[in-house]
Amino acid sequence: MRQFNAVDVIRAKRDRQALGVDQIDWVVDAYTRGEVAEEQMSALAMAIYLNGMTGDEIAAWTAAMIRSGETLSLASTRPTVDKHSTGGVGDKITLPLAPLVAACGAAVPQLSGRGLGHTGGTLDKLEAIPGWRAALSTDEIRAQLDSVGAVVCAATAGLAPADKKLYALRDVTGTVESIPLIASSIMSKKIAEGADALVLDVKFGSGAFMKTVADARDLASALVSIGVAHGVRTSALLTDMSVPLGRAVGNAVEVAESVEVLRGGGPADVVELTVALAREMLSLAGLSDVDPAAVLSSGRAYETWARMIRAQGGDPDAPLPRPTHVHVVPAPASGALTRLDAYAVGVAAWRLGAGRARKEDAVQAAAGVLCLAKPGEPVVEGEPLLELHTDTPDAVAGALAALAGAFEVGDSAPERTLVLETVRG
Ligand code: URA
Repeated sequence: MRQFNAVDVIRAKRDRQALGVDQIDWVVDAYTRGEVAEEQMSALAMAIYLNGMTGDEIAAWTAAMIRSGETLSLASTRPTVDKHSTGGVGDKITLPLAPLVAACGAAVPQLSGRGLGHTGGTLDKLEAIPGWRAALSTDEIRAQLDSVGAVVCAATAGLAPADKKLYALRDVTGTVESIPLIASSIMSKKIAEGADALVLDVKFGSGAFMKTVADARDLASALVSIGVAHGVRTSALLTDMSVPLGRAVGNAVEVAESVEVLRGGGPADVVELTVALAREMLSLAGLSDVDPAAVLSSGRAYETWARMIRAQGGDPDAPLPRPTHVHVVPAPASGALTRLDAYAVGVAAWRLGAGRARKEDAVQAAAGVLCLAKPGEPVVEGEPLLELHTDTPDAVAGALAALAGAFEVGDSAPERTLVLETVRG
């Protein structure tokens, strides 16, 4: 591999030049090996944040991050298709979606992450189920894909190690919200995982990384282009994250709500998004003749869920943890709830103990927020509007501070379109 000087690479990006493939290959590899120092990569990440990258640079950066570690081949007897969300509040969709799509005939290898900040993590939620285990070996993942059709587990340690280092650095250097860096981070892991097809749930609104539809559209296009360039059938749904998804935000509460959906009930927005993503996944997997809404109401998705949880040591019938303390927030007036801000509810759940402030912190399984009304629904002054769940009552004051100004009561809520559009390759 050609050698470069890190300062020259930083200067080039600082001066708005496009980096060459050789420069990118070298800098990503040298950073992974510790030859490029953290402060040098910080400067380069900030230059990328400020000056952006061309499509060719993003493709080369992603390829270099994939090459930094192992690539899995999760080929199964069925077509493999994965889903990735850019992160939201109350976003438990993976829980009903993975078993639903498996019950429809595809194999779903869903290598997931933990929450950091106001967005929840799928693994933290599933760990609320007694006995459930997130860490599986590659052989266990393959065996479960063949036997059950769905696996939700932690990414193996060797997958895109450059991204693990760089993501932690971006988190503490104000360089997370960059389309080239987010797109290459997500896609390096997904491509290394080796699924045949991928559907991205790209969120916009207060609870998302991308606050505007225009930014979410740009991110979706970047993600889809990378997937297609690597031979992965990829599409993206742009979905609203200005209001929490469903009524439950936290860990055990989101598992309980997902089980309601798998049993044919649950909040309408969670069902709508689960079915929309399932349809897109099945279409990319060549199974568009299967109707996921019918499979969901038949109970077959719930049976696959129970087998998936048991295969990873969990007991799907065990009672979920309950909080030691519940604080009720009453509605401030009577009328219709017109606004419930996703970001504020996410921060409140995080402060109650559902999320972590530092990577090494533990989360509380029972912590979270229950939204007893959603925008458009009637509320009565003094009646419960939100329930704050925690095992640490001292955390309630911080959660209440986060919720100041987060909801409004009026005459009627504006119409909300949950799935705005689909970006295809
Ligand atoms: N999720 C990722 O995996 N990476 C990012 O950069 C942002 C969200």
